[in-house]
Amino acid sequence: SRCFAIVPAAGSGSRMKSEHPKQYLPLLGEPLIRHTLGVLCASPVIDRVYVVLSVGDQEWDRHDWRPFGDRLVPLFCGGVSRAESVLNGLRAIAEHTAESDWILVHDAARPCLAPWHIETLVHELIHDEVGGILAVPVADTLKREDSTHRIADTVARDGLWQAQTPQMFRYVMLKRALESARHVTDEASAIEAMGLRPRLVRGDPTNLKVTYPLDLHLAEWILQHREG
Ligand code: C5P
Repeated sequence: SRCFAIVPAAGSGSRMKSEHPKQYLPLLGEPLIRHTLGVLCASPVIDRVYVVLSVGDQEWDRHDWRPFGDRLVPLFCGGVSRAESVLNGLRAIAEHTAESDWILVHDAARPCLAPWHIETLVHELIHDEVGGILAVPVADTLKREDSTHRIADTVARDGLWQAQTPQMFRYVMLKRALESARHVTDEASAIEAMGLRPRLVRGDPTNLKVTYPLDLHLAEWILQHREG
């Protein structure tokens, strides 16, 4: 079966305190999403890359995407949530996929994805019944707050992982899962809600999600030290 990437990129980036949606913020002089799509399009284990943009996206057409060729397909069908954007993307590509094809959902906002992240995930999961996600063990001790911002309790970090992307599931399973669980913040949660147990595949913290302004600087540092 084949592997397709779906990249949700229809968010507004409100935590960035910027007019610009974060997927288009400059990173080493290029729109952030260009780094993300570049790695996915260059991967020999991925057959095609679909990027889900918001219906009113004003920015996509201002850039030259021709270097990526026909491996990159924009879909202007973003939804109100990340899960809905992914589901709309899955519906849009229905005619081009088989039920058993693998879908790798990857955040546009994770531009430091490395070839080995993709290859490890696909290698580990290609024969798996359920699928799974890239993740890293939690490094900090976690605290739950009470209503007065005092510590209600400490969550032991043993056995806790931070979910990253790509998250890799079979087309039909992922579509069904997202149709019945739309308020999830990642694909794995929707699969879990069906009673299934996705695998955790260890990645590393360089695959960070750009959420706050500091993350942009960290991402630049990571990319520069990887290429240079
Ligand atoms: O906001 P957050 O960082 O969780 O977004 C994760 C990814 O989901 C981003 O790449 C963002 O563009 C995308 N997204 C989307 N549609 C939405 C909200 C977020 O495609 N409605």
